[in-house]
Amino acid sequence: MNLYRQLALLYLALSISVGVQATEQDPVEDLLRQMTLEEKIDQLSQLGVQITPTGPVINNGQLPPASINTVGSVLGAYGAEQTRQLQEQAVTQSRLHIPLLFAYDVIHGFRTIFPVPLAEAAAWDTDLAYRTARAAAIEATASGVHWTFAPMVDIARDPRWGRVVEGAGEDPFLGAAMAEAKVRGFHGAGPSDNSSMLATAKHFVTYGAAEGGRDYNGADLSERTLREVYLPPFRAAVAAGVDGIMPSFNELAGIPLHSHKALLTGVLRDEWRFDGLIVSDYNAIWELNQHGIIAVPADAARLAFTAGVDIEMASQTYRQYLPSLVRASQVSLATVDEAVRRVLKAKQRLGLFADPYRYSDEARQRANLLTPQHRALAREAAQKSIVLLKNTDALLPLPKSLRKVLVVGSLATDAESTLGPWPGVGLAADSITVLQGIRSAVDPDTEVIYLPGTAPNSEQIEDLRSIRQAARSAQVVVAVLGESANQSGEARSRTHLGLPGAQDALLRELLATGKPVVIVLMNGRPLVLSDTVAQAPALLETWFLGSETGHAVADILFGDVNPSGKLPITFARNVGQIPLYYAYKNTGRPPSGEGLYTSTYIDSPWTALYPFGFGLSYTTFSYATPHLSADRIASTDTLTVQVNVTNTGQRAGDEIVQLYLRDDVASVTRPVRQLRGFRKVHLAPGETRTVSFTLDAQDFALLDEHWRPMVEAGRFSVFVGADSTTDNQARFEVTDSRVLSGAGPSGRP
Ligand code: NOJ
Repeated sequence: MNLYRQLALLYLALSISVGVQATEQDPVEDLLRQMTLEEKIDQLSQLGVQITPTGPVINNGQLPPASINTVGSVLGAYGAEQTRQLQEQAVTQSRLHIPLLFAYDVIHGFRTIFPVPLAEAAAWDTDLAYRTARAAAIEATASGVHWTFAPMVDIARDPRWGRVVEGAGEDPFLGAAMAEAKVRGFHGAGPSDNSSMLATAKHFVTYGAAEGGRDYNGADLSERTLREVYLPPFRAAVAAGVDGIMPSFNELAGIPLHSHKALLTGVLRDEWRFDGLIVSDYNAIWELNQHGIIAVPADAARLAFTAGVDIEMASQTYRQYLPSLVRASQVSLATVDEAVRRVLKAKQRLGLFADPYRYSDEARQRANLLTPQHRALAREAAQKSIVLLKNTDALLPLPKSLRKVLVVGSLATDAESTLGPWPGVGLAADSITVLQGIRSAVDPDTEVIYLPGTAPNSEQIEDLRSIRQAARSAQVVVAVLGESANQSGEARSRTHLGLPGAQDALLRELLATGKPVVIVLMNGRPLVLSDTVAQAPALLETWFLGSETGHAVADILFGDVNPSGKLPITFARNVGQIPLYYAYKNTGRPPSGEGLYTSTYIDSPWTALYPFGFGLSYTTFSYATPHLSADRIASTDTLTVQVNVTNTGQRAGDEIVQLYLRDDVASVTRPVRQLRGFRKVHLAPGETRTVSFTLDAQDFALLDEHWRPMVEAGRFSVFVGADSTTDNQARFEVTDSRVLSGAGPSGRP
């Protein structure tokens, strides 16, 4: 430690202890009393920082100058040493020595990269979601990070939207379960433990409903859809104690979310009693200008702040305009104090007033990044996230003793893409590619030939003659096809959802050789799979699986692990069907009906190619008819649903048993079915297990025409099976109607 740093720390320790003596009880209130208006507003501002080889650089773009000691938090800083440097600057150079909060997008891992959130949702495993968030938090906090902008809990029913990859898919119930698990995972034991990280649920709300699937585009949907589909995962995150909420970039029915008082203050603060931080998205307050609702620049700050946004990320309209708005009484000082209090309390909760460097510990950083335990967890998560979509004549698993296997497709060696579009500080060099995984799995005598053929962003097929030759001499071809990581994610909306570039043509060539082709798909969204893909006998959906991609893919390909993932989002047959989701409404002319005048298409089936909840195994499972604890229940009763599930195949396997509910007759139209429970069971060959679910009023409830959560008397159908199309059902009746005092049909975890 150099002399300067020693002196600085001594000075800081003295000033903090003087401050604490003066306040005794509450350093937050004491600070608030001492702060000037400008100092308060600094706490509501967040600056971007980039970590470069020569140290942290303020990423201030075109904006007016700001420095580390004039903001309350920083986006993008990490590293024990780097965050310590920045913190030192903030606490020694600012008048009141207030420590910074360091925020980072820790989305699906920090240095060890886990499967992208859409992939992980395919594991339908809240314990796994908890453990990967915990591991990410352990790594990030060891590297100085206090706060993540995750989980993203946007419901997404439009695979054209590139950010489908960041969430848990189309369903509010599964989404709520994942949201809750992630928040708990980021928190761990809570702030007494310095691996506890603040979490942010984003993007509030309907970002995923952007019209046309075009990123940032407006959404326009009913209050019912908002409340029943888009809000529940946020509500679950709030119930789990999430620390922050980030509004979305887009508008909802004419009001940009960053100025949406009815949602930010009305729903979040007043209805749900959320008392954490509302932090803007990047530059989004300034962007209110572009939405066309701002006459003078100061209005951006006024509208966002009075709507409820506490912290401004990147742009600096708060620092520029809030002081004069307060002085002109257009913004109340009490509201500013409330927002500042929330920021200071978050710092206090993390113990930063007692020790601003609590998270910046080099020894801890050395010990905790990319550990063997985290790698093992990444492999487990990746194995569980893979979905087997097709396996004609049990082509998979492949024997490890193959004489010769041809691996085709540049994605097979694209380490960068394994990490997905939000790789944290993960390094491609640390990632196992599909080719590496295959090579390390097969017998020493097996010849593995690799020819890239084409890349997702190329229209060319290279070396076709060699590919044909190699395919003919191989026993099996493994074609690794799909998207590269930069074809999914923010601002990566697409209109053609087939295999990009020349991959379909390459696949045709491979199939023409007559050799069995196993397709390993890598992608961040449900692709629209062509007729060519349909001709391949085996299809494995592997998404972007993170640091252990290759090992996990090989574990499944060669049968060390039996696949168990199930789709968290519908795969449409063509782009024209979008949006397509399992929880649709029946209409007066249901699409399954015979004849012309039903709700279907004249040029395409209306059904999914692969439905929500679908996924195969190397074994088979059978379901007995569900047994209900009663045929008639009162609205205050619970109902137990039991179903016997049997492994009817030759291998042990995990089955994700899904329960769906339909309110057969209600005062408002209901979806044909809604997920209300899921359980993963492990079954040995021939083994039968009874799987139980308990349902209660929260599960039966709907929002009536006055938005009251209520259970309505009448008949319900319950479906239990392997995916959202199961017909395995039973019926019961609720005998009375009742308005609920609690949350209602919120897709609670
Ligand atoms: C923009 C993204 O929309 C948001 O999800 C992210 O947290 C911020 N940038 C900060 O990187």
